[in-house]
Amino acid sequence: MPVTVVIGGQWGDEGKGRMVDLLAQDVQVVARYSAGNNAGHTVVNPIGEFRLHLVPAGIFYGDKTCLIGNGVVIDPKVLFEEIDDLRSHGVSLERLFISDRSHIIMPYHLLIDRLDEELRGPAAIGTTMRGVGPVFVDKVGRAGIRMADLIKPSAFRERLSLVLPYKNAVLQKLYGAEPLDFDEVYETYSDYGGRLAPFVRDTSAMVQDALERGEHVLLEGAQGSLLDLDAGTYEYVTSSVPSSAAAGAGIGIGIGPTQITRVVGVYKAYQTRVGAGPMPTELTDEMGDLLREKGWEYGATTGRPRRCGWFDSVAARYTVRFNGLTAALMTRLDVLDSFPTIKICTAYQVDGVPVESFPASLFTLARCEPVYEEMPGWQQETKEIRRFQDLPKEAQDYVRRIEQVMGCPIDIVSVGPERGQTIFVRGNN
Ligand code: GDP
Ligand code: IMO
Ligand code: MG
Repeated sequence: MPVTVVIGGQWGDEGKGRMVDLLAQDVQVVARYSAGNNAGHTVVNPIGEFRLHLVPAGIFYGDKTCLIGNGVVIDPKVLFEEIDDLRSHGVSLERLFISDRSHIIMPYHLLIDRLDEELRGPAAIGTTMRGVGPVFVDKVGRAGIRMADLIKPSAFRERLSLVLPYKNAVLQKLYGAEPLDFDEVYETYSDYGGRLAPFVRDTSAMVQDALERGEHVLLEGAQGSLLDLDAGTYEYVTSSVPSSAAAGAGIGIGIGPTQITRVVGVYKAYQTRVGAGPMPTELTDEMGDLLREKGWEYGATTGRPRRCGWFDSVAARYTVRFNGLTAALMTRLDVLDSFPTIKICTAYQVDGVPVESFPASLFTLARCEPVYEEMPGWQQETKEIRRFQDLPKEAQDYVRRIEQVMGCPIDIVSVGPERGQTIFVRGNN
């Protein structure tokens, strides 16, 4: 199985970093293919707890080639902070490479992210404010600056002199903000370019060469499928494609869809969301607070409290199907350890009428009332358990029921953030 894609099945923060860190042991190449440092992927290992925003979660092994693909947008300052932090923990960055086609988050993207959210007022998305939306707007609008330009001072000067006046006009005329100084931006970013140059490669060719050598590749998705620009809860989505589609077809890493052999989706044992937008199973009562506290549900990138609720299998069925999942991986089963009963949303209703599929209309989604099935909890600690058959029967039943209602086999269940706190339900994935 040479290419495996790992995607988030919900609204992000499902534990993709943790699962990529686990699955990376069996591959030679780990690549990020989408988004930017709006992602925050936590890996807990013997040298510490890391929140990776750009560097692939395979970096801790030392012998894996780690690629940041063309679909990723890069804030150089954040990347250097991450690299410095990893180096200070003795992690080697020698096998980290960045696509020459990746786009750069510039200072005006950060400004516009904030100014735009302010301008939207009550229609604000609740973005991570990392400039990710605005850089994708520029990518599509053909006003982006790519890594290949940044690392060549003459090309960068020319490109910036074309783009910055346009962006300054937007800053001044649309947002009433101060323009940015060309020399200041040029100097800071050409310095970044010089430091980034040794990492820059044609990463698409590197993946293809690796596949020709018969190597195994793991593609690390970011965000979650319900934040997908096309399939997600538009307009409360991210500005890129977190679903498996972006991993192939040259969108994010530069391989064809026929080269992808396996697509696995990571799901929490319940539901969370950061930022605005409808969430049918959200619990705004003390049960929601309890889930947040038990699971310490605060964003890895922004520290914002996550909205919490019961597992939504209507949404899960939808994401299983449009991602073409071959398996699901479930995280955070242990967070439910103390609950006397646990609910699963198996259907939606609007005014008592069943809703057949996951609605495109946010107005409909906001009115959907979850239909719950209640299961007994296990009220027993699971964090030390390593075999599925050793889980309390109620926990096994819960996992099996979720498999049924989401329509996808669950291959791995995790009962803690560490690599070893893993239960292989079937096969060694
Ligand atoms: P990602 O963005 O999908 O990589 O997920 P985040 O790192 O943003 O959030 C997942 C959080 O859950 C992190 O704090 C992980 O350390 C933690 N985590 C992952 N798996 C488990 C698990 O099985 N149990 C518990 N208790 N925590 C977990
Ligand atoms: P990982 O990879 C959770 C959410 C934001 C906001 C919306 C748009 O860690 O799972 P953006 O800054 O992308 O324009 O914000 O998307 N969001 C995430 N939520 N996990 C993430 O990444 C997210 N990346 C973006 O909260 O609602
Ligand atoms: Mg995260």
